[in-house]
Parts: sequence; structure tokens; C-alpha cells
Amino acid sequence: MALRHLTAALSSALSASRQPDPQQVAEYRYDDIGVGYALVRGSDPLWQADIDGAIGEAHSVLNVGAGTGNDEPSDRVVVAVEPSRVMLHQRAATAAPAIQAVAEHLPFADGQFDVAMAILTVHHWSDPQTGLAERFRYSRF
Ligand SMILES: C[S@@+](CC[C@H](N)C(=O)[O-])C[C@H]1O[C@@H](n2cnc3c(N)ncnc32)[C@H](O)[C@@H]1O
Repeated sequence: MALRHLTAALSSALSASRQPDPQQVAEYRYDDIGVGYALVRGSDPLWQADIDGAIGEAHSVLNVGAGTGNDEPSDRVVVAVEPSRVMLHQRAATAAPAIQAVAEHLPFADGQFDVAMAILTVHHWSDPQTGLAERFRYSRF
């Protein structure tokens, strides 16, 4: 069923513009394979220590492709971006606030965050180059 939706979304997007709509593609993919994600992947203290070290003194953090919120720092101001409703619904009530969006089209002003993080997600983006360019636009460091 989900595969049929994905195929239909891709083929209609392709016939309209020759470019798939990244929001649609990401949503359908993780609305399918993301079921039960929070049961199989949790935060990892070693990764969290590395992320804390990389973030340094930064105060505000944008977590792109945030999924269920793994490894998000708890001592900074964090905003999460995630396209899939299934992943968003698995975020804990105590997790950072999240918006539904894709890396390639972010509704943030230039330099709005100190840093951005993106864990296990860039390989899923339909246009990583644009997503990474966005990352440099909205983060100051
Ligand atoms: C393997 S999960 C990683 C989630 C989380 N970062 C973690 O480490 O547990 C990949 C995530 O990337 C998201 N994703 C896929 N395409 C995306 C895009 N174009 N922009 C932002 N996120 C995307 C998926 O919806 C999914 O939640």
C-alpha cells in the first residue's frame, strides 16, 4: 500500500516537473519504514558526548531530519525538523519542539540558529546539496 503511494507520488511529481517533491518522498518513505523506530533506536551516550563536543558553546541548535529526537542536546535551545508524521508522533512529550519540513526547504531566517545537526539523515535527502546549503544559511557556525 505505502509502496503504491510512493510510486504514485513519485510518478506524478516526475511528470509534473521532472523533480520529485522532497516533502512527499520523505514523508511516504518514513511514514512506512519509520513505524516502531523508537523501539529499535535510542540515544547513545557516546554519540551525545561527541555531539556536545562539536556543538561547543553554541546556545541554539537546529536538528534536521530529527526523527524521534535521538541524541538531541538537553541543555540547549533545540528546534527539530522532520518531514514524517510517523516519526514526529514517536517523539517523547519532553523532546524539543518539532516542525514538519524537509532539509531542502526550511522556513527559517538566515543565521537564526547557532549550529545545525543532522544525524543518519543526509543520505535520505532527495537533494543533499541544497539541504546542506540551507544548513549553512540558517546556522551561524
Ligand atoms: C534514520 S532516520 C534518523 C533520525 C534521527 N536523526 C536519528 O538519528 O535517530 C532518518 C530521518 O531522516 C528523515 N528525512 C528523510 N528525508 C529528509 C529530508 N529531505 N529532510 C529532512 N529529513 C529527512 C526521515 O524522515 C527520518 O526521520
